Amino acid sequence: MPSSSLKPIESSDIRAILSRMNLEEKIGQLVQLTPKDGILSEELKTLIQKGKVGSFLNITDPSQIEAAQLIASHKSRLQIPLLFAFDVLHGFKTIFPIPIALASSMDAELIEQVARAAAKEARAFGIHLTFAPMLDVCRDPRWGRVAESPGEDPFLASLLSSAWIKGFQGKNLSSSSLLAACPKHFVGYGAVEGGRDYNSVTISYRLLQEIYLPPFLQAFKQGAFATMAAFVAINGLPPAANPQLLKDLLRKDIGLEGPVISDWNAVRELVHHGIAENEKAAVAIAINSGIDIDMVSGLYSQYLEELLQEGKVKEETIDAAVQRVLTLKNKLGLFTQEPHPLKIDQNRWQTILKTNKQIALEAAKKSVVLLKNEDGLLPIAPSIRSIALIGPFSEERKEHLGPWSAIGDSNEVITLAEGLKRYAPRGTKINVVEGCNKFSHGTEDYQQALKIAQHCQLIVAAVGEKANMSGEAASRAFLDLPTQQQKLIDVLSETGIPVVLIVFSGRPLDLSRIISKTKAILQAWFLGTETGDALGQILFGLYNPSGKLPITFPRSVGQIPIYYAQLPTGRPANRSFPSCRYIDQSNTPLFPFGYGLSYTTFHYSFPTLNRSRINYHQTLEILTEIENTGTVPGEEILQLYIRDPVASLSRPLKELKGIKRVFLKPGERQKIKFTISSVDLAFIDYEGKRKIEPGQFFLWVGPNSMEGKRAQFDLVP
Ligand code: NOJ
Repeated sequence: MPSSSLKPIESSDIRAILSRMNLEEKIGQLVQLTPKDGILSEELKTLIQKGKVGSFLNITDPSQIEAAQLIASHKSRLQIPLLFAFDVLHGFKTIFPIPIALASSMDAELIEQVARAAAKEARAFGIHLTFAPMLDVCRDPRWGRVAESPGEDPFLASLLSSAWIKGFQGKNLSSSSLLAACPKHFVGYGAVEGGRDYNSVTISYRLLQEIYLPPFLQAFKQGAFATMAAFVAINGLPPAANPQLLKDLLRKDIGLEGPVISDWNAVRELVHHGIAENEKAAVAIAINSGIDIDMVSGLYSQYLEELLQEGKVKEETIDAAVQRVLTLKNKLGLFTQEPHPLKIDQNRWQTILKTNKQIALEAAKKSVVLLKNEDGLLPIAPSIRSIALIGPFSEERKEHLGPWSAIGDSNEVITLAEGLKRYAPRGTKINVVEGCNKFSHGTEDYQQALKIAQHCQLIVAAVGEKANMSGEAASRAFLDLPTQQQKLIDVLSETGIPVVLIVFSGRPLDLSRIISKTKAILQAWFLGTETGDALGQILFGLYNPSGKLPITFPRSVGQIPIYYAQLPTGRPANRSFPSCRYIDQSNTPLFPFGYGLSYTTFHYSFPTLNRSRINYHQTLEILTEIENTGTVPGEEILQLYIRDPVASLSRPLKELKGIKRVFLKPGERQKIKFTISSVDLAFIDYEGKRKIEPGQFFLWVGPNSMEGKRAQFDLVP
């Protein structure tokens, strides 16, 4: 294992390498392949030796990485090292909560720590580049990739984007404990129509800029050097066929210098999109549109040379792409890395794992959102001496790793039953039964579940969707719990014994039908390796939950898309008929964005402002006093929202502009300061230009997007 930082070579040396490369070798740098089962075949070894492949994805065995790297660095003509990429989304060996769960912590420092922890593990195995963070803002929980996303809000997504990049990349990418980030999927994939994965996207350029682009801008500002292009069609064109997006916007306007990677097989899929008449044409379109690295299709190696000879692709286009790839490799220190064996130092590895376990536990606790807590049922009182833990997630391990679990080992996951038993007061009886299967019918045993429940004072029901019901290619048209689990909750609630529901899912589920049947609900997403310990501590009050929803929970699928930053309408829902509402359901969500309870309560004062008007150069300081009015210490995430009530373009009813956390003991108060200035009040106008308009603004400081104490100020030129 490389042990220290490797000094990059001069950029003039990169140009010197480029000048020595033949066409075959140049094209090779743009080819990214994946070996079957992560094992190098003889054919692949030959390709490496000939310089016909520049990077791999999905090889995680260090001995395979080493073998490949040795061929590249010793046996290929120019000895250009290979780049190894992998989806290190929320952990590598230690699995942290899924990204939407981490977003619930709204904690940038935590996410930075998680990203760094994951980077240490992956780089120790020889991985250089992670296909992360996923920065697709998403307002449709039917889309399974919500699980990987930062949620519905561009401000939150941008805050977390920075944290991911800082964590993965640190200051010097050539360090042996850092990963190059590859924010994805540039840009707009989160808006797939109907929430159906791979479907097309139709959004205005204005919305693209205002909602979907900001987290990417933040990532690039923070130093992300590469990016992955979305493989869906955005306004009729997949980015791989859209030079306006990849060249004009990304390269010229944003100034990205590193490589753009196609998504999986995206070059070939240009044919399926009806953009290219055949695979060869697809290659010409993709490289000329700005795709530097062809992920797995293999078509660049098949057709680029021919296209060059035919004059359909210029050599300078290829050269520029190769230079970007080599620069990335150089930033990672690969040119000066001794091609020595990648030996994992077992002592160092064990220390990394131990530290990461602690971070995973902290992250899991901070990711849980308390949605309901009637009569303060949680934390479980010491007087409760017998608990029935019922449901298909009670003794589950694997599902908690989420839809994408890298090389995580399910045997290392702490189950909910284990966590409960570990943290329950001594002598508490905990009886565990599955009750029904997660998804498939035929294994239900409600009678047995009832028998166990009836002898207990409290029921903890562990339910949810299977991990593979969210993630890529896992869109859902219905968001309810699988029917046999709903039935289980029906049966349990009829006992009259209080039910605490723990929901595991990769997305907001439709909890409307079961909400009244339970007294308390914890949204646990998929929490990773430390699931049981985190939930055990929360259930017994050793940790007070503070998570807040990064995405709205709808009352029904029919409300989707539903998000807090809706625009006002000409006929608002609160006026009498006719108005903008459903005749058969309320407009309000089941749980709004930013929502999450605590075991304590907080009182917010009305915000006070340092001035009632600001000009374009001044800063507005907003002070809110918050008090812990409950009986236990707790952490609160305060949220600042604004509204521009009159503008040249209809502006959202609320927009998040600030997040602060505070930990308070009972009775303790603290003044929390937010600051905003005119740039925070800017918006993208009808022509797609950033604009600041003077006038009156409202602001709210509160615990979620629906509650909050209001103040107002003016912006003057
Ligand atoms: C396809 C996914 O869209 C992308 O997010 C991922 O990084 C690649 N596959 C590689 O696994």
